[in-house]
Amino acid sequence: MTSFYNDFFAERTELLKADGNYRTFLTLQKSAALFPVVEFHDTDGMQRSAVNWCSNDYMNMSCSDIVTARAQEVIAESGLGSGGTRNISGTTIHHRRLEESLSELHQKESALIFNSAFLANQTTLATLGAVFEQGVFLSDERNHASMIAGMQASKRPKRIFRHNSTEHLRELLQTLPLHQPKIIVCESVYSMSGSIAPLADFAELAKEYNALLYVDEVHAVGVYGASGQGLAFEQNCADGIDIINGTLAKAFGTLGGYIAANRSITEFVRSFAPGFIFTTSLPPALCAASIASIEYLVRNKHLRPLYRSHVARLREILRVKHIPFAENPSHITPVVIGDTERCKALSARLLRDFGVYVQPINYPTVRRGEECLRLTITLRHTEEQMHHLADSLASVIFTA
Ligand SMILES: Cc1ncc(COP(=O)(O)O)c(C=O)c1O
Repeated sequence: MTSFYNDFFAERTELLKADGNYRTFLTLQKSAALFPVVEFHDTDGMQRSAVNWCSNDYMNMSCSDIVTARAQEVIAESGLGSGGTRNISGTTIHHRRLEESLSELHQKESALIFNSAFLANQTTLATLGAVFEQGVFLSDERNHASMIAGMQASKRPKRIFRHNSTEHLRELLQTLPLHQPKIIVCESVYSMSGSIAPLADFAELAKEYNALLYVDEVHAVGVYGASGQGLAFEQNCADGIDIINGTLAKAFGTLGGYIAANRSITEFVRSFAPGFIFTTSLPPALCAASIASIEYLVRNKHLRPLYRSHVARLREILRVKHIPFAENPSHITPVVIGDTERCKALSARLLRDFGVYVQPINYPTVRRGEECLRLTITLRHTEEQMHHLADSLASVIFTA
């Protein structure tokens, strides 16, 4: 590589640093037994511990003995990697069973697994969009980067509707001929703001205006719905959602993503989506562990109300301390700071002085001015840890 390229990339990174948006990673030592307490390597080289308040392992399934034992069992039996793409020797009984388990969970004809939900969103939307020459996307203005990437890759036009606005979506749909293929794209629980989409209204609009409805339930599966099927079940409109996207990496505690839909759609995506076809499949043990996790969360229905009571208790404690978090109906609690540098400084002080780990969320993950500390509680966080968090936040927010 000549110095031209070296200097070019280094300058771009320097610009990002000057902008305050350079990301630094905290290197954690995660213990399944102690989580959410984590050890980390501090900048002075010392090993310290902190309580993790920013994990998406909402139900602590990544640490579940049932899940890890199942993974170990299948590793012992089958080895680790799958050794192939799904088409070329990479489909095992565990991949098949996981897809059956997911289609059953969502009560759809079939499901298709991908190596991540990012990939599932990106390649599915790119492939569905590209096949409709006259197709158009209707996309919520707050959609995740993976869906935006997929829509862009399809090269189809995109109309953007105001966040969660049924009225604006209807207005846009009214401008399009009924016969024109349309795909409405949204999330159910928005990952950063914690807002919730009016899925039942969107489903009605999709039907009325002859559109497909694609919903990313990544932050909802395992957490909402009586059996963890997601928000569409909680809103009694699952039949009206044509394609559900979910992850195995958050509430289910493993890795991988999926779509669940009618067989005509999964068969089409399976046959044409490059992000499904041209990549080595997930390790069989991971698929088996995911099934164990799904089954556990389906069986243990009491965990979801318990989790919601944890969320409510945390918010009560934060309110008492006047912590300015954004009220929303979900489990994600963003404390809006509204300034990149302050957000980073508060996060650093929380870690250094109080042993509270909450990563600052800055542009481009959120819009400028919406920088926040995104708090996520898990089933294992204790009342004592909640009080410690609230006291620590009060100290840094009201004294800095
Ligand atoms: C809304 C949303 N969709 C998709 C993804 C991607 O999920 P995965 O981590 O399985 O790739 C994320 C990840 O954080 C997300 O927040």
